[in-house]
Amino acid sequence: MTEPPLLSVEDVEVRYRVTSGWFGGADVHAVNGVSFSVAEGETIGIVGESGCGKSTLGQAILGLTSVSAGSIKLRGTERDHSRRTHMQIIFQDPQSSLDPRLPVWRLITEPLHIRGGYARKELIDRATELAVSVGLRPEHVDRYPHEFSGGQRQRIAIARALAVEPALLVLDEPTSALDVSVQAQIVNLLLGLQAERKLSYVLISHDVSLVRHVADRVAVMYLGQIVEEGPALDVLDAPKHPYTRTLLDAVPSFERPLASIAARAGELPSNRTLPTGCFYRERCPWATTGCELPQLLVPADGLRAVRCHLVTGVNETAIPRLASPSASLLPNGAGT
Ligand SMILES: Nc1ncnc2c1ncn2[C@@H]1O[C@H](COP(=O)(O)OP(=O)(O)O)[C@@H](O)[C@H]1O
Ligand code: SF4
Ligand SMILES: [Mg+2]
Repeated sequence: MTEPPLLSVEDVEVRYRVTSGWFGGADVHAVNGVSFSVAEGETIGIVGESGCGKSTLGQAILGLTSVSAGSIKLRGTERDHSRRTHMQIIFQDPQSSLDPRLPVWRLITEPLHIRGGYARKELIDRATELAVSVGLRPEHVDRYPHEFSGGQRQRIAIARALAVEPALLVLDEPTSALDVSVQAQIVNLLLGLQAERKLSYVLISHDVSLVRHVADRVAVMYLGQIVEEGPALDVLDAPKHPYTRTLLDAVPSFERPLASIAARAGELPSNRTLPTGCFYRERCPWATTGCELPQLLVPADGLRAVRCHLVTGVNETAIPRLASPSASLLPNGAGT
């Protein structure tokens, strides 16, 4: 019998019930049938426009948001109580998750403190060890969050995540709030920790160069669905799905170019009332008959899966490569 993957996400849907405001009563369909798995020591990158459901998916994996349908299994076990301790999450902004009133040793050992049964000295020793393993100095554990730079605070958050010796970290835009000069240091730290500890990562990011550097596989999300999934370099260098092509042809990073994509291909449809048929139909330059049917994520070639009948059917060669957008279509400074 083959071992189950470390993490398997099967047909997961997440809806937010909204009871107040303009749209009161209409659910937000944030994640709409996502499946993928992550092996021990592997990194999957989750990319896509702002609002496509990446963070919601990350929180669902951790059990911080409940799923409306589908299942999330750790080593084959669903709803494992220990999911909370075998997985941890790192957010974009460590500031918000570090209580300014607590010293670093106490912050780092928070998960152990909650678990209980540790003497103060034990916690301080453990915190010191963890601090050193993320590139901080032993004396840092007596200080408070405000005494640190953004990069150091992210190191503190990583040390805290490691306190329970998790098998998997969800990294939600882990370097987006940091100075460019510091981003590479945090990325290198994450790669080093992964090699030492055989960690698996779910890396949520809009930064294609980061994902290219770190991820083994990539899943591209659109309106709460995965539209393309496969080996990172295959997907990023030779995208097949019309959406991935538009995204990657536009500019190297996803955050800025949204305006240009929206201008060329229409606004992101509402996730209050999902479109019928292919979710990308309203914006797709190749929409044709057959696209009014819901599309499944199916193998296109080898290890790649794509949610588009033109790509996965016999007609692939019928799709022309999108011409590179002219520079004038891009917002000022995009790609810098
Ligand atoms: N707590 C919430 N309540 C209602 N809607 C939410 C909530 N959190 C996120 N959403 C909505 O769910 C969708 C997906 O959001 P999110 O997962 O944050 O996307 P991403 O991380 O890709 O930017 C968006 O439409 C967002 O507005
Ligand atoms: S199924 Fe049709 S609308 Fe959807 S991505 Fe493919 S060609 Fe475009
Ligand atoms: Mg997000």
